[in-house]
Amino acid sequence: MNYVIGNWKCNPAIARDAKKILVGYKKGIKKSKKVTVGICPPAHLLGLVRAMLKSLAVLGGQDCHWENGGAFTGAVSAIQLADMGCEYVIIGHSERRKYFNETNEGVNKKVKAALAAGLTPIVCVGETREERIDGKLIEVIEAQVKDGLRDIDTNAAKLLIAYEPVWAIGTGQACSPQEAAVVSRFIGNISSDRIPLLYGGSVSTDNGASYLKEAGYSGLLVGGVSLKPADFSQLIANCAIL
Ligand code: PGA
Repeated sequence: MNYVIGNWKCNPAIARDAKKILVGYKKGIKKSKKVTVGICPPAHLLGLVRAMLKSLAVLGGQDCHWENGGAFTGAVSAIQLADMGCEYVIIGHSERRKYFNETNEGVNKKVKAALAAGLTPIVCVGETREERIDGKLIEVIEAQVKDGLRDIDTNAAKLLIAYEPVWAIGTGQACSPQEAAVVSRFIGNISSDRIPLLYGGSVSTDNGASYLKEAGYSGLLVGGVSLKPADFSQLIANCAIL
C-alpha cells in the first residue's frame, strides 16, 4: 500500500476556502486500492473534511498531547483526535520541533499516547541544512528515530516514519531520490523494514512518484501541493500506478 498524506499545516485561513479545496478534491481524487489518501487539516476543520470527503480520504491530526485530558490549555489529545474520526496523527513535525520546542523525548510520549488511542503515528524526522553540512545527518536521524521510538516494539506497532529534511520543506528544493534512498535504507536498518516510510519536503507532481520508484519509500507527506486540489489529485494518480 502506498500513502499520500496531505499536511495542511495552519491553512487555509477561513473555512470557506477549505470547502473550495475539498470540492476540488471530490472532483479530482480517484479512489484506488493502491493508495491510502490522508488529510491532516487544522483540528477545527476535521469535522468539515470528514463530512465532505467521507471515505475518499482518511483523517489525521497534526499533533497531539501526550496526556489524555486535563489542564493543558490549547492542547488536543490523541483520544480527542480519534473521537473526531482520525486514524493518523503527525508527530514531531520539524515546525513543531522548531517553533514549539518539541524534543525527541516529547515525541516519544506522544507516539505512545497515539498508539494507546488507536491512532497510527506518522513520526517525522529530518536534519537541518547546518546539520547536513556538518556531516551530522546520520547522527541526527538516529537520535530522532531511536529516542522518538524508545520502548516501542517497532516489529509490532502500527506506525509510519516520514523523512522530511528540514531544508527541503516549503523551499522548492526537494532532496534527490538518491540522497533520500540513503536515509530510507538507514531508517529501515535502525527501526524495522516493515515500517512504511514517507518522504516529505517540496514534493511535486513531477518528483513525487520517484521517491516510491527509486528510493524505497512507500508514500509521501505533502504540504503545499495538498492545498492545490488539481495537483494533489495528479500526485495521487501518479502514485496509484506504481
Ligand atoms: P512541503 O511541506 O510539501 O510544502 O514542502 C511538507 C511538510 O511540511 O510536511
